[in-house]
Parts: sequence; C-alpha cells; structure tokens
Amino acid sequence: MPTDCIGIDIGYGFTKTCRADDKRIFPTAITMMTKENTFADISPIVVNGQRFLVGKDAEREGNTIDTRQSGFVTSDAWLAVLGHCFRVNDFVNGEIVLGVPPGVFSRKYSRRILDAIRASDIRVNGEPYRVRGNVRIIPQGAGIFFRHIQDQPGDLQRNVAVIDIGHNTVDMVFFAQGRYVESATESQEIGVSLVLHSIMKAFYREHRLAIDSEAALGILQGKQVTYMGDAYAIEVREEIEGYTKSISSVISRYLEKLPLHPDLGIIGGGGAAIRDLLGSRNLLVVSEPAMANAIGYWYYARNAQQGDSRG
Ligand SMILES: Nc1ncnc2c1ncn2[C@@H]1O[C@H](COP(=O)(O)OP(=O)(O)OP(=O)(O)O)[C@@H](O)[C@H]1O
Ligand SMILES: [Mg+2]
Repeated sequence: MPTDCIGIDIGYGFTKTCRADDKRIFPTAITMMTKENTFADISPIVVNGQRFLVGKDAEREGNTIDTRQSGFVTSDAWLAVLGHCFRVNDFVNGEIVLGVPPGVFSRKYSRRILDAIRASDIRVNGEPYRVRGNVRIIPQGAGIFFRHIQDQPGDLQRNVAVIDIGHNTVDMVFFAQGRYVESATESQEIGVSLVLHSIMKAFYREHRLAIDSEAALGILQGKQVTYMGDAYAIEVREEIEGYTKSISSVISRYLEKLPLHPDLGIIGGGGAAIRDLLGSRNLLVVSEPAMANAIGYWYYARNAQQGDSRG
C-alpha cells in the first residue's frame, strides 16, 4: 500500500497544505493561550508544555506572535503550526515534505529543523504526536517548479527561474536542467503586504477609517469596503502601480544577474494574482499559484517515496 504523503508550506502570511486532492490554507497566526477559554472549547496545540492557538482561532484571540523573527522556523510556535497542519489533515503517519525560505536553506539548517521536530513534545488534541516516517526539507519556490513540471515535463531540461511572490518576501530561485542552483537564490522584502499597507494608509487618508489587511486585499481585488452599512469608494491605482514597478525591477535585475541565461520565468505565490504585475515580460503564472508550492511538495514526496520503494 502506498504511504500517505503531505506537502506543507508554512509562509509568513499563510500556511498551505496539500495531500493529493485535499488542499488547505489558513493564516499563519499563532498566539499563546494564557487563560482557560470558558466559552468555546478550542483545543490548543501543546509544544514542550506551552499551549498555542493557531490559524483563525489565534487571529480571534489577538496578540499573535511575530513570525518574521529569524528564529521562527524551529521555534515552539512554528512547531505548533506544524501540529495544526497534522490536525486539520488528520495526518498520522507518512512522507512529509516541508519548505523553508530559500535564503536559510542548507544541509546544516535542515538538520537543525529535523532535530527540532524529533526532539519536541507536540501534543494534538491532548495526545502526544510522534512524527514518524520521512521528513524532507526543500527550499520554498522549488514547489512551484515541481508543480510547473507536472504541466510541462519538457521544462525539466531547461533553465527555469522561479519567482515566489509571498506576503512578506519575494523569493527567487533558479533551476538549471532540473538542478537547483543554490548560489542563485535571492530574497527581497517586497511581498504583497507592502501594497496592502499602502492601501490601508490611502484608505485612512481618504476616509479617516482604519481597515485591516483583509479589507485591503478585497480592495486590491476590486471589492468595495462597507462600514456600518455605508459603501466607501477608494482609488488605489497609484499604489498598485508603484508596487508593480518596484517588483518588476527586482525581477528584471534578478534575471539579468543569473549565471546562465534563463529560458523561462515562472511566477507563483499569492501575489501572482495581482493582475498587472507581469506587464509585457515573458513570465508565466503557474497553475493554482497560491497553492503551487504545497502541491509541488506533495508531488516531490510522492516521487521520493516511489523512488525509495524501487530501491
Ligand atoms: N487575488 C489576490 N490578489 C492579490 N493578492 C492576493 C490574492 N490572493 C491572495 N493574495 C495575497 O497574496 C499574498 C501572498 O500569499 P502567500 O500565501 O504566497 O504568502 P506567504 O507564503 O504566506 O508569504 P511568504 O512567502 O512571504 O512567507 C498574501 O498577502 C495574500 O493576501
Ligand atoms: Mg510563500
């Protein structure tokens, strides 16, 4: 019987999981549970004795932990997100593929992550959760490449640049004939949260009303904000143009600096949904861009496992 596989993409903004056709996404929000919750019975994820709420539950409680600190990956809070992924997926045992920011990806660091996972006491629904099976760690962005290869197997032989537009960062990685080129990795803090913030500011300037980033995303997607029954219009073309210009120049510079001439550029991540990001350049948007990393990890897990069983 084939082993169960799961691809897990823990981003600064959202966590995405893929297990065959079952795909999930929740905000990467974590908060420490300090008081007993008397109304709703939310069950925390317990890591090394600390109780955490994750996702929507954490957002509701507030006081969420800043995921942008350098020590986030391998921290107890990060392990709680992992535990939450296992819980929502009912994932007990199998092949796990995890992505980490390409800037920190290295053999040594992968070891540290694996050690943190194995040495920690993670409790899900009160039960100790043992991570059995294989855990593989690959750079974020690689999933987008593997997802693309499902659609275009021939591109495995070409030089492919991948641009992962996330919430906080834009990560860029390069594959030359199917091999990951570690030295050609670049990460810039110009994720979608930048444009969301400038939309929030513009809205406040115009209406003296504070909106959250979810409402700002709605505006970006052309929706209207309503407050106490009134609709509030806002023009954000300038904000979007300013953002797409700076992202475009970062991408151009990256492509020009690559050690080999790229044949193709692929865009993925939630930010790929910004319509006028691409301009006229020859960039392709991967299928299901926001989920693409997680889906690609799942393909990777499945192939690795088939490879193992063939010997
Ligand atoms: N239709 C859309 N148009 C524009 N932006 C969108 C759309 N849908 C989602 N986004 C935004 O895309 C952003 C990036 O999402 P993504 O899940 O790729 O980030 P992440 O992986 O959590 O972040 P990072 O890669 O920085 O760790 C989010 O800020 C989200 O609000
Ligand atoms: Mg991401």
